Amino acid sequence: MTDTAPEPTLLADYAPFPFTVEQVALTFRLHPQHTRVLSRLSLKPTTEGQPLHLHGENLTLISLSLNGAPLPDIAPDAEGLTIPAALLPATAFTLEAEVEIAPETNTALEGLYMSGGIYCTQCEAEGFRKITFYPDRPDVMAPFRVRIESDMPVLLSNGNPAASGPGWAEWVDPWPKPAYLFALVAGDLVAHSASFTTRSGRATPLNIWVRPGDEDRCAFAMDALQRSMAWDEQVYGREYDLEVFNIVAVDDFNMGAMENKGLNIFNSKLVLASADTATDTDYERIERVIAHEYFHNWTGNRITCRDWFQLCLKEGLTVFRDQQFMSDMRSAPVKRIEDVLTLRARQFREDMGPLAHPVRPDAYVEINNFYTATIYEKGAEVIGMLKRLVGDAGYKAALDLYFDRHDGDAATIEDWLKVFEDATGRDLAQFKRWYTDAGTPRLAVEDDWQDGTYTLTFRQETPPTPGQPDKPPRVIPIALGLLAPNGDEVLPTTVLEMTEGQQSFRFEGLSARPVPSILRGFSAPVVLDRTAPPGERAFLLAHDTDPVNRWEAGRGLAKEVLARMVTEGAEPAADLLAGLEAVVRDECLDPAFRALCLRMPAEDDMAQTLHASGVVPDPDAIHAARKRLQLALAQRLAPVLPGMIASLANNGPFDPGAAAAGQRALRLACLGLLTRLDGGEAATRAHAQAGNMTDSLGALSCLLDAGRGAAELTAFHQRWQGNRLVIDKWFMVQVLHAAPDRLAEVATTLTRHPDFDWKNPNRFRSVMGALAENHAGFHHPSGAGYRLLADWLIKLDAVNPQTTARMSTAFETWTRYDTDRQAQAQGALQSIAARPGLSRDTGEMVGRILK
Ligand code: ARG
Ligand code: ZN
Repeated sequence: MTDTAPEPTLLADYAPFPFTVEQVALTFRLHPQHTRVLSRLSLKPTTEGQPLHLHGENLTLISLSLNGAPLPDIAPDAEGLTIPAALLPATAFTLEAEVEIAPETNTALEGLYMSGGIYCTQCEAEGFRKITFYPDRPDVMAPFRVRIESDMPVLLSNGNPAASGPGWAEWVDPWPKPAYLFALVAGDLVAHSASFTTRSGRATPLNIWVRPGDEDRCAFAMDALQRSMAWDEQVYGREYDLEVFNIVAVDDFNMGAMENKGLNIFNSKLVLASADTATDTDYERIERVIAHEYFHNWTGNRITCRDWFQLCLKEGLTVFRDQQFMSDMRSAPVKRIEDVLTLRARQFREDMGPLAHPVRPDAYVEINNFYTATIYEKGAEVIGMLKRLVGDAGYKAALDLYFDRHDGDAATIEDWLKVFEDATGRDLAQFKRWYTDAGTPRLAVEDDWQDGTYTLTFRQETPPTPGQPDKPPRVIPIALGLLAPNGDEVLPTTVLEMTEGQQSFRFEGLSARPVPSILRGFSAPVVLDRTAPPGERAFLLAHDTDPVNRWEAGRGLAKEVLARMVTEGAEPAADLLAGLEAVVRDECLDPAFRALCLRMPAEDDMAQTLHASGVVPDPDAIHAARKRLQLALAQRLAPVLPGMIASLANNGPFDPGAAAAGQRALRLACLGLLTRLDGGEAATRAHAQAGNMTDSLGALSCLLDAGRGAAELTAFHQRWQGNRLVIDKWFMVQVLHAAPDRLAEVATTLTRHPDFDWKNPNRFRSVMGALAENHAGFHHPSGAGYRLLADWLIKLDAVNPQTTARMSTAFETWTRYDTDRQAQAQGALQSIAARPGLSRDTGEMVGRILK
């Protein structure tokens, strides 16, 4: 552990910066070991008599001067430098600094670093201070001029190209921006280029820059970008605002992508796609993230955050926007179901554990640790609820006001809520609790039928979270429909607004007791606790007119059945099997939807559900029960599986669209079931015939589940050697599908493979991230999974704290399990915590997880 626990930064301590930065001029003389950064800041005090604090980390100061006069006595400390008020003029002044940095040895991938010979940057949240001395906080916004000197052929920065010559280029960004949106790229890159004409008629060149040889895998990302630009104009009235838009793909990146103004930088796995190298999941993710980063141009860049506590202001909103975009591009219910699955798997898990925090936190040690599912996914859910409460027209009016009122601002959640209040006249004081209170509310429901009146009574309760013992009731929009016993809808979707701890809603004039369809479209991020009467879920699975709740009924039923199989040794229930069979055979239903219905709840999801109901989850029992249920389902569907697999095959050219992807998903779901019956015969054939990566990897997964696939793995590696993104898949699939007993051994062997380039975050995650996702294997009673991950996190922390800290969340559920497993996990966590020199990032995470 770090010797002294670092002090947290508090929302309550916010104070504006006492200077304005009127102009930033930067010159970069690039060199792998000795890059020189010259900065000229035009500053103006806004409050008298204040010292000037500039952030700066790991910078070698070469020179510093104020209005041309050297300041030889100012020495930086570990966090930056301070110029005392006595040395500062009362009016505008210029501060010039020259520093030296070494991009090549920057393995943390924050600030200016090198990836495969390409210079690139990552500044959000606080990376700019590793480039030069600067007020590195989002409420300081300034126009930037950048000059790059390098013999690399392509030199890029934010904004518009201003001038260039051999060995140099200059860029001017006219839009004032915070330093976290700064970017620079220099490398031997080639562009896949296209253009987009904005609605006011400006033809804007678009370039996706990649390493030579990758340019034929950019077409899908480019198409997604063009569709995103058009969508933001049509739906939000937002137009692009620079002369050019550049995207660069790099192989070494801590996360997905970054919305730097006019120069988005992407993890190459979220750009590059071709039928033979990318799966449908990859395509979908590329489309979503391209849109997400583009949408940030307005929600994040034109309007940014006052401080990092307001991170959800841009991330929650931009996720919400990318979700809207995706549901417009693809199938809305399928998209919603996928989002609900992600929310539960990642955000509910976080909210129920030691890392729970509000959508707007009020303290942090390391801000990089707060790029979480709560800020992103729950942040988006909160906006979805707001939209449901104020209606589509209210939402549109509020957003128009937001862009109008706050363009050019660094804003807060208070500003955000105020535009909704002003545009709709609604009081959002209670609603604000969704931002300030952590935890997932549990919503219990009981119903009653008397004299033609149906009554639903809801009770809400939010369990305590770290630092927040008591939770007052929140406003919860509950979308409800009622069905008659014959399946007719007697009450179409209606939004009930729950504001009390307990509240009843009455429905009169019904001729028979209805079946309630509660929380349609997953109208609020809560856990619905309903002990459904026998048959209710099966009825809804067959009849609900709301597709999300129809799926949810099957899901709920599957979880009930699995829970009974785990805890009572029950048999797979016939009503579930019959209900799923009916869905699968119903050719009127979207194949993607049918595939989702066939997907059994994940083992971690079952562990979460059992834990929440007071049962200590047994990972081995869950694993075994899930396999038994899959076998029973396979037996039930045996007569139809081969026919479906044959009829869903497509021999035409690869189409990455949602409809074709849905067919592949259903076909692979059927293949997975058939593998339970034939031991992998059909999967072997399917793998041999696969014409795209989705089918190839899908069939390979089936084979590995059946304990086969050795020859296929070897051939796969041989064929794709040198393609980093595909080799990542080769690592990952082996770990994900390893038998729990063999997981640690399989993973350890892979870490000794010459291709295990562990400093590359994608490669590290493809083994260590997959390790933690193999639920029964990671939680093996021997503790081998915990130890293996802990040892590698210790090793990675010394080179890349951010990715290490992020991956430590694999341990966030450790207190769910039995005392032996807890002891093993605790030991592993303590071995990380005890490491001398542990990073602040990982120290904070492990400290919170152990508490
Ligand atoms: N703003 C980026 C996005 O589009 C992510 C940046 C993540 N930064 C970090 N330090 N984890 O979501
Ligand atoms: Zn974002």
